[in-house]
Amino acid sequence: MNIRLGLFDSGIGGFTVLKRVVERHGDISCVYLGDLARIPYGSKSPSEIRLIAMEVIKWLINQDISAVLIACNTTNSLALDIIERFTEIPIFGLVDSGVELICGNNIGVLATPSTVASKFYTKKILEVKPEAVIFEQPCQGLVELIEADNTTNKEIQGLVNQYLNPLLEARVNEIILGCSHYPLILPILKELLPSGVRLIDPALG
Ligand code: DGL
Repeated sequence: MNIRLGLFDSGIGGFTVLKRVVERHGDISCVYLGDLARIPYGSKSPSEIRLIAMEVIKWLINQDISAVLIACNTTNSLALDIIERFTEIPIFGLVDSGVELICGNNIGVLATPSTVASKFYTKKILEVKPEAVIFEQPCQGLVELIEADNTTNKEIQGLVNQYLNPLLEARVNEIILGCSHYPLILPILKELLPSGVRLIDPALG
């Protein structure tokens, strides 16, 4: 069967997901939409994100895709129902994949302010691990710096440090990278984290 996979994100973050798809499935045909006109999604209101999701899914369906991979945690968290209602083709998301990769019970989530405010990760984690203790950390401004390719500068390191501290104080053992842009700063995250803390990239699920 010939699959034509539609992926979307607000910008380059979804490429971290596309990369994993290509690694696994090689010659699969993909259409990728990076919505640079409206980035960042993660500081928009739920109604704006839902409206964008509707427009994006309409555009993708017109590209004759046969499945959708929502390469954006923010849209996955706030507008999955809209996308599911709009089309009958298979839809895959990062949140479920991330949750599947959890091993322990003390879980941190780094994500955009809108994703954290939705509490979608917490809801999904508790569905499979009712005993889990979850700490979600909003990371205002991180996506903008990553998009600007400022991944090595002091500003981004300071911001990442500031966002990791509350998770470390909460003694999490695992941290879900709840925004597809964050795998692009993996070296910074690894440098700042103690070796006992496991990072989870939902795109590997
Ligand atoms: N990369 C997206 C996510 O996974 C959206 C980032 C943004 O535009 O704020 O949530």
